[in-house]
Amino acid sequence: MTDGAGRLYSFVVAVLPIITGADTPVLRTPTALVPKVTKDVLHLIRNMEETCVHADGLGLAAPQVGQSLRVCIAKINDRLTPLINPRITWRSPAMDDAEEGCLSLPGVYVHVRRPQSIVVEYTDVKGRAQERRLADLDARVVQHEVDHLDGVLIVDYVGVDRSRKTEDARTSGV
Ligand code: NI
Repeated sequence: MTDGAGRLYSFVVAVLPIITGADTPVLRTPTALVPKVTKDVLHLIRNMEETCVHADGLGLAAPQVGQSLRVCIAKINDRLTPLINPRITWRSPAMDDAEEGCLSLPGVYVHVRRPQSIVVEYTDVKGRAQERRLADLDARVVQHEVDHLDGVLIVDYVGVDRSRKTEDARTSGV
């Protein structure tokens, strides 16, 4: 992995334990912004990628591995993408319903209504500002991960607007 200055880092990569439980404090605490993309941040991201692949997940947020930092990874276009300090700057009025699971809540599935499309701004691993418009599953996964960074879990959506007929869709392992 190289940083914005072209420095090459090689890390000892580890699969990290995934923190579980709807009442676990680190999962309920809004995360701190990352001031700078340091070697430690890149190492965390590399370990999160390994952990996510190992768990067969669609995404993973830093609090799920015990780090209260505004960092997550999300499968976008089938590729795990690190998002540093992500911020959703636009949400479509059109909504979608789907059933979601979460690596931190094994066996729990909740219908979650979310905007169908979003624009997300973030910093990439090279420290560059990025902006992407996402739709459908990509948008859903990123919204789920950004929720984690704000201390929000899918169980918080239980009972919220169940009036619409839900699709037979399921998003697991995020
Ligand atoms: Ni999750």
